[in-house]
Amino acid sequence: MKIAIMTTGGDCSGLNSCIRNLVVMGLRRGFEMLGILDGTDGLTRPGAPHFAKFDYNTLPVENMRLAGSFLQNGHSHAMNFQTAAKAGDVKTFNARLKKSLAEMKLDALVIVGGNGTLSIVGQSHALYGNIQVIGIPKTIDADIPLTDRTIGFETAVQQLTAFCDQLLLTARSHHRWFAVQSMGRDVGALALHAGVAVAADAILIPEIKFKPENLVKHIQKIQKDQGRDYGIIMVSEGIKLRGHSGRPADMISRELDKAGIPNRTAFPEHTQRAGDTVARDRILAARFADAALDAIENKETYVMTRLRNGVVDTVSIADMFKSGEITPDPNIPDTFVSNEFVSDDDPLLFAAAARGAYIGELK
Ligand code: F6P
Repeated sequence: MKIAIMTTGGDCSGLNSCIRNLVVMGLRRGFEMLGILDGTDGLTRPGAPHFAKFDYNTLPVENMRLAGSFLQNGHSHAMNFQTAAKAGDVKTFNARLKKSLAEMKLDALVIVGGNGTLSIVGQSHALYGNIQVIGIPKTIDADIPLTDRTIGFETAVQQLTAFCDQLLLTARSHHRWFAVQSMGRDVGALALHAGVAVAADAILIPEIKFKPENLVKHIQKIQKDQGRDYGIIMVSEGIKLRGHSGRPADMISRELDKAGIPNRTAFPEHTQRAGDTVARDRILAARFADAALDAIENKETYVMTRLRNGVVDTVSIADMFKSGEITPDPNIPDTFVSNEFVSDDDPLLFAAAARGAYIGELK
């Protein structure tokens, strides 16, 4: 069996754990293990296909905890699904991709990707011919339907939590509030989890409408009732506020300024995708790698590994796609992406509210 691994889309911590687990367990099963370099870029740029051949030591055990992808995820200017669509080069892109894959004579391709990549894979079977295609969900956004966890999420929550822990100390010294802007695209899961972990006094996520005047009243009430004049206001990057433009944390900061509440903004940015992979993500990566290899041996194709109620198994990518909220891909014309959002009955919303956090106008 000849199996290739490819990492695509935005990186996150846990990719190296996933790659090494696939490689070592694949080699132990007697498979030939290859890694495509730079995502689809490595299959389509001149001289393609670009790939590495793995042995047991190519990705050393001590490096599997490191963030980033050993295989890299591709240059932003290179040809990929997004840039090719924008430039009207989809035909060339598809032809190159198909040619490279055929040249590699693969039996299976394991794509470690986000909801964008996996949604596209489900819509482009023709590209892969007889190659078995197995998806492994990774993203800090936790926006992939039908899985309770994605590789990278737990580490991102830890990174954001640690970032806020540090801010709280300086916040207290200066009697000020911090509006911290988390990543997550249109999904508030990362903000919600870290918000509960740091006992944020407000958690604003795109899924729940909020009123800036109620946020301000809430902070003023904490100052008056508890005598505390510092804390964290967690602002998910996907929130919108009518009449405002610019970065979401800046919008919130302006509202606090208007009410005379001393504050600063803080942007952890891509540190949420970095940091040593936490144990939970490494364990998930190990379990997903085993499930992906089992799926290959069981002759499955167009399936994705997933964790559901503590059990790891596979689900068809078509089912994953159907069960989310399907929207046009914001970056690729004529392409759709399936999204999972924080639901109204998420227990963490109630945990946050019970601790006195303002989580918006949840009915
Ligand atoms: O999807 C992962 C993610 O980190 C989002 O949370 C964020 O909005 C985006 O990618 C950032 O992308 P880029 O790496 O292009 O800045």
